[in-house]
Amino acid sequence: MLFQNTVLLNTKKYISTAVFFGNSAYQRLNDLIDSSGPSKLFVLTDRNTRQLCVKQFLEKLDPKLTPTVLEIPNGEKSKSIEQCSKLWEQLSHHGADRHSLLINLGGGVVTDIGGFVAGTFMRGLKFVNVPTSLLAMVDAAVGGKTGIDFGSLKNQIGIMNFPEMVLIDSIFLKSLPEAEISSGWAEVLKHGLISDRNYWDLCSNLNCLDITEWERIIETSVNIKLGVVEADTFEKNSRKVLNFGHTFGHAIESFRLDHSEKALSHGASIGIGMVLAAYFSVQLKGLDLATAQKIRTVVAGLYGIEHFDSNSRRRIEELLAFDKKNSNGLTNFVLLESVGQAIIDNKVPLELYDRAFDFYESGV
Ligand SMILES: NC(=O)c1ccc[n+]([C@@H]2O[C@H](COP(=O)([O-])OP(=O)(O)OC[C@H]3O[C@@H](n4cnc5c(N)ncnc54)[C@H](O)[C@@H]3O)[C@@H](O)[C@H]2O)c1
Ligand SMILES: [Zn+2]
Repeated sequence: MLFQNTVLLNTKKYISTAVFFGNSAYQRLNDLIDSSGPSKLFVLTDRNTRQLCVKQFLEKLDPKLTPTVLEIPNGEKSKSIEQCSKLWEQLSHHGADRHSLLINLGGGVVTDIGGFVAGTFMRGLKFVNVPTSLLAMVDAAVGGKTGIDFGSLKNQIGIMNFPEMVLIDSIFLKSLPEAEISSGWAEVLKHGLISDRNYWDLCSNLNCLDITEWERIIETSVNIKLGVVEADTFEKNSRKVLNFGHTFGHAIESFRLDHSEKALSHGASIGIGMVLAAYFSVQLKGLDLATAQKIRTVVAGLYGIEHFDSNSRRRIEELLAFDKKNSNGLTNFVLLESVGQAIIDNKVPLELYDRAFDFYESGV
């Protein structure tokens, strides 16, 4: 039994979002379709989820309507205004109206653009998220943020828009590439670090590539994320804890996109960001060094250790200045007092940056 000490609920209703897990969730979706009687049913996929997920998804549904499957290309580039235009056009072409239902079947790219397109087409049609990547299950598909990128700025255009329900079926992870599992795992670790020591203790000792019983892990992560979102939906204060590791993480991710042949995954970048934040936490918030070292060991085991020379470090620090979580030109970090106790809005002296990178690279 993985979760002897954790009370789990089968379903939770947060801010008009119900999240259902496993096979019984399909009955909930069938019921939703029956009771709301949509005029038309659409399923949005990307190329991969059209090939690998849509058939098994539709086999478990019993809709009175034949769904129209829409497809976008794989990857972040699809989160564009041009792609939105194409989807709005296709919805019009297939006769969508305000009583249609859109089901987003895919990773975070599909749930982000799908939620945005649903919220904007004819001032809003209802939608359901069926996440198929680990990252989308534990993060992107829940919490109400939807949107697209604008130029080189990620998630710059968007709306808060909550799905009618979220259906999470871990069976979809079977076809997900290992690199995507490892990348999504960083968010799971983050959830433990910011709010649940038992969950961190459990997950930090698991190899994410060996897990077969995913449901309780995903459910715990979803409950943590939605608990945070419920307390502060519009990210005025406490929701910022979800940015743990993401301040430096985003800067590192952008840096590696621009300056290296080898892009770093979101998870690997956030992993490094969590180690840097752990070091700051030791220096400024009394986090014990052994915990910071454990975080480093787990991140190193998952993603290896990258080397950042002084030029790279300076460039990454410049990119921090663009982070949207800054206020008054100063960078705000989420730090830990202990595992499970995260503190938002911490300023970190610049001279600690280099020492934090040294700690990440060498462990001392
Ligand atoms: N809205 C939010 O709160 C939120 C939170 C975190 C991330 N995001 C967004 O999510 C996106 C990243 O999500 P992602 O990592 O899922 O990326 P993604 O949607 O690009 O999926 C990653 C890859 O896995 C493939 N894939 C998905 N499910 C699959 C399956 N079951 N089998 C095989 N292949 C599958 C996809 O086709 C893609 O190639 C980013 O755009 C990010 O900004 C949003
Ligand atoms: Zn993230």
